[in-house]
Amino acid sequence: MATADASDDPDGEYDPDEFPVPALEARAQRCAARLREADRVLVASHIDADGLTSAAVAAAALERAGVPFESLFSKQLDADDLDRIAATDHDTVLFTDFGSGQLDLIARHEERGAFTPVIADHHQPADADGRSPSASGTESRPVDTEFHLNPLLEGVDGASELSGAGATYLLARALEADGTDNRDLAALAVVGAVGDMQDGEDGLSGANERLVADGVAAGALEAETDLALYGRQTRPLPKLLQYASEARIPGISDDEAGSVEFLSGLDVPMRDDDGDWRRWVDLTGDERQTVASALIRRAVASGVPAERVDGLVGTTYVLADEEPGTELRDVSEFSTLLNATARYERADVGLAVCLGDRDEALARARTLLRNHRRNLSEGLQWVKNEGVTTEEHLQWFDAGTRIRETIVGIVAGMAVGAAGVSRSKPIVAFADAGDGEVKVSARGSGHLVRSGLDLSAVMREASRAVGGDGGGHDVAAGATIPEGEREVFLAAADEAVGEQVK
Ligand code: C5P
Ligand code: C5P
Ligand code: ZN
Repeated sequence: MATADASDDPDGEYDPDEFPVPALEARAQRCAARLREADRVLVASHIDADGLTSAAVAAAALERAGVPFESLFSKQLDADDLDRIAATDHDTVLFTDFGSGQLDLIARHEERGAFTPVIADHHQPADADGRSPSASGTESRPVDTEFHLNPLLEGVDGASELSGAGATYLLARALEADGTDNRDLAALAVVGAVGDMQDGEDGLSGANERLVADGVAAGALEAETDLALYGRQTRPLPKLLQYASEARIPGISDDEAGSVEFLSGLDVPMRDDDGDWRRWVDLTGDERQTVASALIRRAVASGVPAERVDGLVGTTYVLADEEPGTELRDVSEFSTLLNATARYERADVGLAVCLGDRDEALARARTLLRNHRRNLSEGLQWVKNEGVTTEEHLQWFDAGTRIRETIVGIVAGMAVGAAGVSRSKPIVAFADAGDGEVKVSARGSGHLVRSGLDLSAVMREASRAVGGDGGGHDVAAGATIPEGEREVFLAAADEAVGEQVK
């Protein structure tokens, strides 16, 4: 999908007075005006890194605008959650990083006067019958609400160009009163975008680039060309290389002894004066250059394909005000830290960290992070051991209770490319969700999307066919279905993917 407005052209000069994404300015202004009118606002947000940063951006902007608010978080904003929200005495509810996919349910509450919804989201909107606009066959009844800020409504790609936190950031800019500058909040929005995997090798693109420019201009963000491996701030050097599953360099990736040996052969000390491992951030510029060049030479010599070698270096983002060597300094590591809180029912901890708590909340978040890392690695190992089942158009595994339903999608994404897991078919993962329900997570690739894949429509239609519900993005989507419906759901999803991908 292309951007609708030529003025979104990322090559354009940076103009601090121009609204960052002009195509969305009118919607942002309308939403902001409604929020300014409210006596107080209930901010409801999603339980992942993008949802948390959305809530934090909204909190900071509302506070600066003098609008009182409360926050709540939800796993999926289903009918029960909306009933609970409607039962509070809030007249104005700001939904961030979800809401568009539940427009049908939200509109019903609005119609009976329960609350006025304001939505800042990037998920595919549902129509009045809950169908995706792209659903084939039956005529869909469009439904919309007056205060709806979503890039997809203006031809901006919600899967790769603007996240929930990005949409909320635009709202924050529209909420600025005279003398307020909310551009510092772009740094959090970038954490949200990267948490939603919107960055490619060259970093963020499209509308997101304007956010980066704002963050840089505000002094909150720095964009750098650097080694594109996860863990530059906190991982000991050998671990940085060993865990570089993105690169898969023979004798280094997944190989602790090999990584240590590789580093020992370079003129770069691996340990500091106290005998502790050094991290990437501890290296001088020259030392980084030495390691990166040697790594590239080794990759080329081992026959790693050119595009994966190119991928070793890329655009990375750091938060300028954060302490070097902490999880908060690097946007990717920050987003993992946030996922470690909200996906474990501790969104309060992640939100406090986003809003500046560097004491108790950060310590708690770090403990949760160790647990999250262990769960991801055990989950991935389980999938590798069990393998996936391949259907005509997709592949799947059912983790039952072995993987927590809130992280099964992350594990599914990590499993792609492992032995026995193909990159050429979408992966669908199941996990028990309790209460007679099963969580489904689906992940595709940019390549499959360009061939026609829309997992949001697949998840929505296949789940509705068995009495469940779902949605999301073309490249990543999810659903909840009743227990015992896995086979029927899979058959419907397999068929739907087959119809899309040509
Ligand atoms: O609900 P939300 O939009 O925040 O989540 C988006 C999800 O899609 C994230 O879990 C993210 O990792 C996933 N995603 C992906 N591959 C992409 C883009 C997004 O797995 N290319
Ligand atoms: O939960 P998971 O990480 O698999 O979600 C992938 C994407 O699908 C997210 O953007 C999430 O918000 C969306 N989703 C949805 N409806 C569901 C489940 C997931 O819109 N029932
Ligand atoms: Zn999101």
